[in-house]
Amino acid sequence: MADAAANEVRLCAVADARERPFRVVAAGRALVVWMAADGGPRVFADRCPHREARLSAGYVADGRLVCPFHLWVFDESGRAVGPDGAARPTCAVRRFDAHVRDGAVWIDAARIE
Ligand code: FES
Repeated sequence: MADAAANEVRLCAVADARERPFRVVAAGRALVVWMAADGGPRVFADRCPHREARLSAGYVADGRLVCPFHLWVFDESGRAVGPDGAARPTCAVRRFDAHVRDGAVWIDAARIE
């Protein structure tokens, strides 16, 4: 039986992701780690689907991640949200499952390849 923890990659300290969107490269993939309103981590590809800006250069407002360039907003699931608060069904950033252990954010390496 494989040890699931053996495949995990530590992305950053929870405190780092809480302070601001945190850029990390894992398994060759650029990721942004941030903490959602529910206190859980969110890990997205660090590339805005609009014009590929780094979302890690943005900020969190009202529990959503804001791209710094044209201020597109992404909810906790990675869906773009319009000014009216409605999710745009055809626009999203890729999201990866992650969890917290020992004060850090971890991800299964197999999920980011
Ligand atoms: S590049 Fe992100 S909103 Fe334009």
